[in-house]
Amino acid sequence: MTRLRPEDLRSHAWYGDPGVRAFGHRSRTRQMGISAEEHLGKPVIGVINTWSEINPCHTHLRQRAEEVKRGVWQAGGYPVELPAMSLSEPFQKPSTMLYRNLLAMETEELLRSYPIDGAVLLGGCDKTTPALLMGAVSMDVPSVFVPAGPMLRGNWRGTVLGSGSDVWKYWADKRAGVIGDQEWSELEDGIARSPGHCMTMGTASTMTSAAEALGMTLPGAASIPAADSAHARMAAASGRLAVDMVWNDRRPSQILDRRAYLDAVTTVLALGGSTNAVIHLIAMAGRSRAELTLDDFDDLSRRVPVLANIRPTGAYLMEDFYYAGGLRGLLAQLRDLLHLDRINVTGRTQAEVLADAEVYDADVIRPLDKPVWPEGGLAVLRGNLAPAGAVVKHAAADPRFHRHTGPAVVFDSYQDLQRRINDESLPITPDTVLVLRGAGPHGGPGMPEYGMLPIPDRLLKEGVRDMLRISDARMSGTSYGACVLHVSPESHVGGPLALVRDGDLVTLDVAERRLSLDVSDTELAERRAAWTPPEPAYGRGYGALYLSHITQAEEGCDFDFLAREGKVAAPEAH
Ligand code: FES
Ligand code: MG
Repeated sequence: MTRLRPEDLRSHAWYGDPGVRAFGHRSRTRQMGISAEEHLGKPVIGVINTWSEINPCHTHLRQRAEEVKRGVWQAGGYPVELPAMSLSEPFQKPSTMLYRNLLAMETEELLRSYPIDGAVLLGGCDKTTPALLMGAVSMDVPSVFVPAGPMLRGNWRGTVLGSGSDVWKYWADKRAGVIGDQEWSELEDGIARSPGHCMTMGTASTMTSAAEALGMTLPGAASIPAADSAHARMAAASGRLAVDMVWNDRRPSQILDRRAYLDAVTTVLALGGSTNAVIHLIAMAGRSRAELTLDDFDDLSRRVPVLANIRPTGAYLMEDFYYAGGLRGLLAQLRDLLHLDRINVTGRTQAEVLADAEVYDADVIRPLDKPVWPEGGLAVLRGNLAPAGAVVKHAAADPRFHRHTGPAVVFDSYQDLQRRINDESLPITPDTVLVLRGAGPHGGPGMPEYGMLPIPDRLLKEGVRDMLRISDARMSGTSYGACVLHVSPESHVGGPLALVRDGDLVTLDVAERRLSLDVSDTELAERRAAWTPPEPAYGRGYGALYLSHITQAEEGCDFDFLAREGKVAAPEAH
């Protein structure tokens, strides 16, 4: 095993040189009150922190960074905290997805341009996890991810509340007149009552669990609630680990291969995880130069049962999952489906990591022979409406829509949808297929989470709670229903979704993995000839950079210039 000497450290190029350049770096370190013996010859650990006062899921990360730094000092390292852009799911518009690649770029360039030997990455709210990991993978310095951890269960009049999922549920109840303003405002007080990310199996829990399954966190880290003291201890241990990883030169490239990504997909499926994981894991695998396609998700989905009984697919929340044994307990159930000879950040194999893992509540973490859902619940669809693919989380849909044909009612944008969805003159019945376009990576822009199109009030009052909905948007991991998502190519770049008209018959057949439009090729060609591309959303700024380089959903929505190989000049030569 490689064991680095102090002069092998990357930071040595900044601090160790006998000339005037390193004098500058050393004297500027003295300026910060750090004496020579405190830092020289020690690994510099960049603590990339996405704490922000506008990110409720990361409110505790200021304190956690202190705990990480405590661990780094204990292990003989030198921690430096590097604040990075926080992607706050509830507040950032039009979508945090617009900025995932910006945070990935920022992470990579922070690690590259400063004298960093290793990294601890602090994040958890939805896109922060893939973004931080994509940057660290591309830079390939020894890195460990510290997941922010789920918040505690929500509570309202003694009823347990789950973030996201219960918002949609009670919003439907409010619109149907089942609850009033008083109840609605009490729900506002009780649904999010501690630091941490969403505690349903939304995108946050899905992606932090995927990070652990990949091997990029301390074993067990992803399931610890943010408010639990074990979380602070995990942060300090991650700081100590980062120093060890540097001395042993253990880099993401040694941990993340195709097997790791397949194991992450298996894990996400067994969790009944968010459809957003499809996009993020494909983008992350691209950075690792590991092959991962939509078909891998579909193949594994046919074999992997949903074992985590967590909302929105199941009944419990992340806090219950932690007490039941957490992700290690779940991975132990999946042993036969995983690659156990892979190492993780600790250098130990998954087999070693899972050797003593147990399940303490078999209703929360089900055994293979008693799953929540017999297969992974994610299907990849293709057909003349989605030549490059679309996905549906059929486990979260009313089974009557697993095979369904109905007439389309089409909305050209989210604004159009909001304006007209309750228009009584629209011929919408429970069998109608609601179609939203203009919501993809270009069209959204940023592919917002509009995919759970609202059911018209009139039908809600009649008790309708699910309908077939199709879009080029994404959907929040806490949403549910018969929602076909990520239709590609998106309408904005001329995908067939752009050509659908009101009344066209649309068919979803999950068993056949088919999404089709019952319109002839000749008719579609005529419609295409008459189609004009919509105006781009940006003519300048970051948005224009984004539009010039964003790829489609099945490619992970990375920027083409970040996903490709190419020369990168080494900063330490300057
Ligand atoms: Fe941050 Fe859900 S809002 S994880
Ligand atoms: Mg979300």
